Amino acid sequence: MALYSRVSGSVGMITLQNPPVNALSAAVRQGIVDMMHRALSEPEVKSVVICGQNGKFCGGADIREFGAKMTGPPLVPMVHLIEAASKPVVAAIEGIALGGGLELALSCHYRIAHSKARLGFPEVALGLLPGAGGTQRLPRLIGVPAALDLITTGRHVTAAEARQLGIVDEVTDLNAVDAAVKFAQSVTGKSLDARRISTYPCPRPPDLDAIFERAMQQVRRSARGAIAPGTCVQAVHAAVTLPYAKGMERERELFSLLFTSGQARALQYYFFAQRAVSRWSTANGARWDTSKPRPVRKAAVIGLGTMGRGITVSLAQAGFSVVAVETQEKQLSEAKQAVSGMLERGAKRRGVPLAHDKIKYSCSVQAVADVDLVIEAVFEDMALKKTVFQQLSAICKPGVLLCTNTSGLDIDELASQTQSPELVVGMHFFAPAHVMQLLEVVYGPRSSPEVVATAMQMGKKMGKVSVAVGNCRGFVGNRMLKPYLEQAFFLLEEGATPEQVDQVLEEFGFAMGVFKVSDLSGLDVGWKVRKADGLVSPASTGTSARIRGGSRYSPLGDLLCERGRFGQKTGRGWYQYDKPGGRVAKPDPWLHGFLEEYRAQHGLVARHIDHQEVLERCLYALINEGFQILQDGIAAGPEDIDVIYVLGYGWPRHRGGPMFYAGQVGLDKVVERLEHYQQIHPDVPGLQPCSLLRKLAASGNPAIHKWREVIQKPRSQL
Ligand code: 3HC
Ligand code: NAI
Repeated sequence: MALYSRVSGSVGMITLQNPPVNALSAAVRQGIVDMMHRALSEPEVKSVVICGQNGKFCGGADIREFGAKMTGPPLVPMVHLIEAASKPVVAAIEGIALGGGLELALSCHYRIAHSKARLGFPEVALGLLPGAGGTQRLPRLIGVPAALDLITTGRHVTAAEARQLGIVDEVTDLNAVDAAVKFAQSVTGKSLDARRISTYPCPRPPDLDAIFERAMQQVRRSARGAIAPGTCVQAVHAAVTLPYAKGMERERELFSLLFTSGQARALQYYFFAQRAVSRWSTANGARWDTSKPRPVRKAAVIGLGTMGRGITVSLAQAGFSVVAVETQEKQLSEAKQAVSGMLERGAKRRGVPLAHDKIKYSCSVQAVADVDLVIEAVFEDMALKKTVFQQLSAICKPGVLLCTNTSGLDIDELASQTQSPELVVGMHFFAPAHVMQLLEVVYGPRSSPEVVATAMQMGKKMGKVSVAVGNCRGFVGNRMLKPYLEQAFFLLEEGATPEQVDQVLEEFGFAMGVFKVSDLSGLDVGWKVRKADGLVSPASTGTSARIRGGSRYSPLGDLLCERGRFGQKTGRGWYQYDKPGGRVAKPDPWLHGFLEEYRAQHGLVARHIDHQEVLERCLYALINEGFQILQDGIAAGPEDIDVIYVLGYGWPRHRGGPMFYAGQVGLDKVVERLEHYQQIHPDVPGLQPCSLLRKLAASGNPAIHKWREVIQKPRSQL
């Protein structure tokens, strides 16, 4: 709702009240309309201030209402009512003015912002465009290039930048509402003719066509199939080419197109999913709201390779004191140099405070004796990690959290090496750890709720989105990756090429296809794991070469590694590169010949494989594993899996995540297609629909938020 009060005798104050961000719900919109009429009808009131309760102006339309039938007054007539008002209306912007909140502010005649406020049009991230005149008013106010930038990227600007761009009239370090009231009094009675943005002509720079062409190219490059950014460009184009009223009509048409697209639904689901994962629960009943995190001031990182360096940077930037430990002086000094470079680049590019003094380097594990939490990031080798955990357990002060960054080893086995297994959890960061937003917090059967809560909170402080997951091979992300990769390998055996598979996945929206990712992260990584698992057999011919544990197995990755083809780092992998370390993947005729030879050797006949089969086999196998994970209680809900895949594995955000996507395709269809492929390829693992997937499909494809009701109380696998 909105509250009305009279300030200083002549100023009508409308305060938006809808915690936590004063979103424009039906009740708030109704309140604004009613209070505006009241302010305009009271003769004593000479001017109006609109502000938000609790130091937040407005977070935009109420996203929670998007799924339901629209009630209350629409936004567009509301902003027109404000702009057309005969008394000056001043927006007092504290905290945030986002989306519809900024549109509300743009309909006011003046805008006063607090210096800490952030403004922006983030609609594009929800699959929408500013639909209450934002695409028509902003270019009129700040010009086409700046408006295109803000609307197509959704980036927030500071009050200072907003002032520079001309979005706000004044910035204050003091109370913005008081400043707005004073301002409102000072403009009482002044003509408003030049203050109604909708009446401004839209600037037309001479290189207008080139500006729009560039903007379109840019969004095409980065959108990966998302339709909102390009549609935002079209809406701004309407502001330049049409009179305001016609431009508003066009904005409405384009907004409806986006609103009813599956992409907007997916992005809005994802918005809430990313927030839902912080309300974690574990298979054995621990919960976010009943578990208190421990204080952590000083942390240690053991092993300063690829991951340890990024984790150190991330910890220091978040304000923690860090003890960073390597085995020998040479590795230590290399790591120190790399970490310093990363900190400096962070300071230069993102304005993160330099944090060199937060880090102490050491070659002795004894240096971690007084820290509150340790993150181990040594080689992925169980024997080595066990030794490190034994050492840590002996050296560290009592009560220290011992965390591992393992990609998939058994947390419980590591915990059993320590005197306090309840203090052990996985903190699985993603490379590069100072950049990637995802953190899987892996709890074992003995991890205490307090320790899970601490790791979750640490992640948040480090700017990560933390997702709590249970302990199993590969946890959630890497476990689901396995069947996805397997299908891609089998498709090569059956006649596909890496380029073909990657193209299909990239067209779906992945930033990179599976083979390009494999080349980037190094084929040797998986090879080492498969060797440790006893899967890599020296025999490269005969049927046994393609069978492991009674199931079909593709040794293609192993064979490439045997030939020294580790991907980008060696200049050869599934693709060729111009030099070791090269980045541009080119199809490799050698690999095509190798695949032909391989098929001939194993009696495989290449067949034509279409787009649909590539997509369905790769994605549905991955999705099926996701349902198995839910069934096993490793993830508490589909949102956890979706956030992990979007933030950690390049799943296109506008498709919501694999579990949401499965729901959109139809769970019965996923079951039917998996059964179809299983029938054709009975020897291929991963294609048998798991029982939870079947059960949900049979119960009539319930909406994703209802899945938890169908998922039986998980039995712990631990
Ligand atoms: N509608 C409904 N709920 C909202 C909301 C909104 N616009 N914005 C935030 N919330 C809710 C969140 O879901 C969360 O709820 P929870 O506590 O139950 O999980 C709570 O507010 C707090 O949000 P955050 O956890 O994200 O808090 P932060 O302080 O980190 O961030 C924020 C605050 C910057 C406002 C961030 O929430 C955000 O970016 N919100 C979305 C803003 C947005 O996209 N607005 C445009 C809406 S579309 C629109 O206006 C269309 C119009 O053009 C027609
Ligand atoms: P890396 O090989 O780059 O670095 C490991 C570092 O540990 C080396 O610098 C080594 O000298 C050091 N080290 C080894 N034994 C040590 C000891 N006893 N004390 C101190 N330092 C020691 O390995 P990377 O890639 O950083 O991986 C580390 C861990 O993170 C592994 O468990 C890996 O599975 C996991 N991980 C790796 C990811 C990646 O993309 N590289 C992603 C997520 C997790």
